[in-house]
Amino acid sequence: MSKEVNILGAGGHAKVVIEIAEELGYKIEQVYDQNIDVTTILDYAVSHNSDSLSGKENIFYALGSNYNRKSNSLKYKSANFNLIHPSAIISRSVAFGMGNVVMAGVIINSSVQIGNHCVINTSACIDHDCEIEDFVHISPNAALAGNVKVLEGAHVGIGASVKQNVTIGKWSIVGAGAVVVNDVPDNVVVVGNPAKIIKNISK
Ligand SMILES: CC(C)(COP(=O)(O)OP(=O)(O)OC[C@H]1O[C@@H](n2cnc3c(N)ncnc32)[C@H](O)[C@@H]1OP(=O)(O)O)[C@@H](O)C(=O)NCCC(=O)NCCS
Repeated sequence: MSKEVNILGAGGHAKVVIEIAEELGYKIEQVYDQNIDVTTILDYAVSHNSDSLSGKENIFYALGSNYNRKSNSLKYKSANFNLIHPSAIISRSVAFGMGNVVMAGVIINSSVQIGNHCVINTSACIDHDCEIEDFVHISPNAALAGNVKVLEGAHVGIGASVKQNVTIGKWSIVGAGAVVVNDVPDNVVVVGNPAKIIKNISK
């Protein structure tokens, strides 16, 4: 029996998700996006009829925005699987929820816990005992040392490094290339080396 997946989202992030799903042998049942200006993605037509998602149980949220992945996952049912690129190296002791995408070249070491609907982007490195909560995005080439906690909805930017034992607060953003050496509170943006708060994010 062929495995099928409905993809919600038709932007650049969704292209990568679709190609990983294809590589893993999934049939793309449909791609949905609310943006009526987007009519195709890769070789697929894009549906704009949200009714077509009702009742589907294998919806994968291929949205780069952490907030949008959360809000859509509250509206529809979710795929109960993860899309993990075959080139990712993942310790046998990693625990995953569902709806996560792990892209090419990722390394996840021992005893890491990953929640639901996270994006672990290309060549990110997550070291031992990290805890990644729901709706997190770890960007390409970001590196988390051991025992880092990334709380719900936080975004670690491209090429950022996070020192061991640090906690990144809920819905906070770590800027591209930042070096985080201290805990980051909820709902802030930090940049630089050492990373410092430059703004608050309204809830
Ligand atoms: C940190 C970030 C979220 C800030 O975005 P923003 O809120 O729109 O902020 P602005 O672009 O207005 O920048 C505000 C200030 O911070 C500086 N700044 C922005 N990003 C920075 C970064 N990554 N490192 C150092 N300084 C940065 C800007 O130069 C600007 O400085 P100024 O006030 O002296 O001119 C964004 O620049 C960033 O790095 N996003 C991560 C992108 C990413 O990882 N993409 C990968 C997706 S897969």
